[in-house]
Amino acid sequence: MKQDWWKEAVVYQIYPRSFKDSNGDGIGDIPGIIEKLDYLKNLGVDVIWLSPVYRSPNVDNGYDISDYKDIMEEFGTMKDMDELIRQIHKRGLKLMMDIVVNHTSDEHEWFQKSCQSEDNPYSDYYIWKKGKNGGPPNNWGSYFGGSAWEYCESRDAYYLHMYAKKQPDLNWENPKVREDVKKMMLWWLEKGVDGFRLDVINLIAKDQRFPDGEQKEGEPFGNMIPYTHNIPKAHTFIKELNRDVFSKYPIMTVGETLETTAEDGKKYAGFNEHELNMIFTFEHMNVDNGKNSKWSDQKFQLTKLKEIMNCWQTELDGVAWNSLYWNNHDQPRVVSRFGNDGIFWSRSAKMLGTCLHMMQGTPYIYQGEEIGMTNCCFDHIEDYEDVETVTAFRQRTEMMGEDPDYMMRCIRKKSRDNARTVMQWNDGPFAGFGNNGVWFAVNPNYKKINVSSQLEDEDSILSYYKRLIRLRKKYPIIVYGDYTPLFADSGKNFCYTRQYSNEELLVLCSFSESVQDIRVPVQFQERRGRILITNMSGLTDNDTEQYQFGEHITLEPYEAKVILFENL
Ligand code: GLC
Ligand code: CA
Repeated sequence: MKQDWWKEAVVYQIYPRSFKDSNGDGIGDIPGIIEKLDYLKNLGVDVIWLSPVYRSPNVDNGYDISDYKDIMEEFGTMKDMDELIRQIHKRGLKLMMDIVVNHTSDEHEWFQKSCQSEDNPYSDYYIWKKGKNGGPPNNWGSYFGGSAWEYCESRDAYYLHMYAKKQPDLNWENPKVREDVKKMMLWWLEKGVDGFRLDVINLIAKDQRFPDGEQKEGEPFGNMIPYTHNIPKAHTFIKELNRDVFSKYPIMTVGETLETTAEDGKKYAGFNEHELNMIFTFEHMNVDNGKNSKWSDQKFQLTKLKEIMNCWQTELDGVAWNSLYWNNHDQPRVVSRFGNDGIFWSRSAKMLGTCLHMMQGTPYIYQGEEIGMTNCCFDHIEDYEDVETVTAFRQRTEMMGEDPDYMMRCIRKKSRDNARTVMQWNDGPFAGFGNNGVWFAVNPNYKKINVSSQLEDEDSILSYYKRLIRLRKKYPIIVYGDYTPLFADSGKNFCYTRQYSNEELLVLCSFSESVQDIRVPVQFQERRGRILITNMSGLTDNDTEQYQFGEHITLEPYEAKVILFENL
């Protein structure tokens, strides 16, 4: 396999609003990020993915951009941004900008002009349609509640918004839109950024017939997904971005892509497709979904999770590249979701890190994951901030007859706000995030879970993540080795092997609260290997411990163990 820097990198995502407040206004900011760069360097990551910092009215915390070439006032100035880029590069780190080009804010100049009349240079920058029978052009529902269409009087027409009303979708069929987007991306590349995370990039092409979507019983709107996600034209547009922008710089690109299977992955992230380096699929994040949506309090099934991840690992091997993630600003905290944030908090957080970081692909760490931050549970809907959470509560309780108590249970489990409580730096006021309040919330467990208590502790989750990252740098098998699932039917453990030249790696992870006895695969029986890492205390982690297999091995609750066999 061809070697590339972005295959060997580990990425750390910063959600700036909740990362570090430098000036006491309760909102994280760019100078705050600069203060913490040494921490990230010390953690060992290579790339920082920065969630949007552009000018924005913040209906969706920056994912509604009103000026791509300016910085949100609360976060700082363009001078701060230039300094951030300089400071990142000075430490040998790279910066990946989050860029949202499926939609803008309705406060963007393009939209302000577009909605004025049918015949100005920006009229076709967005998707405008005449209404039907006194209502919107079709029955599509938006992701953030209500119809996907909003009426605009000055044009006597509706515009499409797949997300909030204040996030109108750009019209990618218009070549002038594509030219402007490309120019803007090149402008950032000229500033020195090293890559892009492309927000919902597989939604940019729409079926131009705009037909009604299937409407299930009890659902207030029709399903837009078949007409807006993974339309073949999306590949055409992404190839054009690649040709005119991405291929001109030695950068890394990752596309956020909803509703994608491994088949789609091979197209968007195929080595010979000239589109993106990798994508974020949602398949493994949907394992605990309910019937038609994420709003469910169902527990995940390990066999299902494994089936999905094993499929992506084996299908993409040699033809495309995976991104590896458990967490981001849209997902609940993984230790609460797939681990155990009670008595096995530390051990299960380390196990989850092991299970993910030993796979083939580029691993992503979301702020706080490296210290085992957990979900944060609030009692009332008023305690939540996120536009998705708040609109879903209203739509599902008011229009779909959902029981409000049940909906609150789902929200506690699945709300994006679980990821958005502030970073827990220490056990002082506001968890060390700032010295004067927080824009949203501090998780009350910050006295126990924080960076400063883990920094010097060899046995902490933080120290463990540092080791996981170091191992990836040291052993090419972790980056480039191919992947074989083990015990696929087990609902208690997630095990696999990796192979690379004459080496083999055995990865054993328990997702169970009870002890398991596992039969060792024949090829490893009576063999000697080296333990590269384990989350069980009492064993060294200096990757030299010899390990001799018999026929069976016992896995403690949430145990993880990685063993390397050399000279096969
Ligand atoms: C992506 C972002 C999410 C945002 C949405 C609309 O899914 O990750 O935070 O709300 O796009 O821009
Ligand atoms: Ca601030």
